[in-house]
Amino acid sequence: MTTDNQDGFSTRAVHKGRGFAGTTGAVMPPVFMTSTFEKDNPDGFDYTRSGNPNFRLVEEAIASLEGAQFATCFASGVSAITAVLSCLKSGDLVLAEENIYGCTYRLLERVFNKFGLVARYCDLSQPANWEEIRRQKPAVVWLESPTNPLLKILDIAGISAVAAEVGATVVVDNTFASPYLQRPLELGATMSLSSTTKYVNGHSDCLGGIVATNDTAWHKRMLFAQKALGLQPSPFDAWLTTRGQRTLALRMERHCANALELARWLETRRGVRMVRYPFLPSHPQHELARRQMKAGSGILIAEFDCSTEKALEFCRKLRLFTLAESLGGVESLVCHPPTMTHAQVPAEVRRKVGIGDGLIRFSVGIEDVADLRRDIDQALTEVIG
Ligand SMILES: Cc1ncc(COP(=O)(O)O)c(C=O)c1O
Repeated sequence: MTTDNQDGFSTRAVHKGRGFAGTTGAVMPPVFMTSTFEKDNPDGFDYTRSGNPNFRLVEEAIASLEGAQFATCFASGVSAITAVLSCLKSGDLVLAEENIYGCTYRLLERVFNKFGLVARYCDLSQPANWEEIRRQKPAVVWLESPTNPLLKILDIAGISAVAAEVGATVVVDNTFASPYLQRPLELGATMSLSSTTKYVNGHSDCLGGIVATNDTAWHKRMLFAQKALGLQPSPFDAWLTTRGQRTLALRMERHCANALELARWLETRRGVRMVRYPFLPSHPQHELARRQMKAGSGILIAEFDCSTEKALEFCRKLRLFTLAESLGGVESLVCHPPTMTHAQVPAEVRRKVGIGDGLIRFSVGIEDVADLRRDIDQALTEVIG
């Protein structure tokens, strides 16, 4: 099996990461469930905290899919974020999009803040605010696009160009798009970080994180963080990620088609105050989304005119959407961000960035879309009217 640089995304997703079969001819690599390796082996492994064949396979494959020279895998998306932030020093400034994932916010405010890291936030979907990058000269500009949960689209190329003027590193959390829909490094970012727990694995059966980059110094730092902080995944989880990656393109196509259809329908449905989906013309950054992403991904949000209690009642009435954290798996999930993923963000911050009590996030799975639509319709009729 060989792949070359002309192979398309789906071909690379299927064929990359098939090494270490030895003389067995195994088409799928085995799981190397070993904590340690005999000294001086030709592949250079020593101890699984600092490397394992299953890590190398997932890293090689995701690097290729992200269009990167290097990738480093971690135990979860939060481990990957920890790895990047651990490389900064006291007094460094992180200028972050104001609507980042709640646990990224928590890491900045409640963990790294204690060690002197400073984080400031602004609405980077507004080009006028990019001036803050020139003015504040941060060490790192932290982006997420689409953002969680508001699905704001940030102009990665535009922001990266401004960050380059002041020598700032640009990190893009690419979890919601996946490398199938968006490749931040090609748009000028320094690092593309993903929770592979979501779309890349796609089956809700393991956690993982990855950081892809073309920057040799950052790659070395990521390898150091993987072993020095003990942020590595288990070989089995790395293997599950490789297995999930094989079908990434196919799954994303169905996620995107289903989500777009549901978003279009919800916009016309009584009782729905607002629907947001990057590929709907009503999305504030619709043109940018079409430029930057291949399709709109599988997440959509809707706001109902209701209290937290009613919003949760709606979620519980759904038959096919399970009320659960996470997203990006083959099965549809629903989430109430104010009481779940973003509960640790202070209420006033939530309100300021637009996370209201009636906000619902749907992670649209790959089921038959007619069934998903019927399910939302019956729950809406019963609870909201
Ligand atoms: C945008 C984003 N980044 C990072 C993470 C963290 O990933 P993990 O749960 O794998 O630690 C999540 C999890 O929901 C996420 O939505």
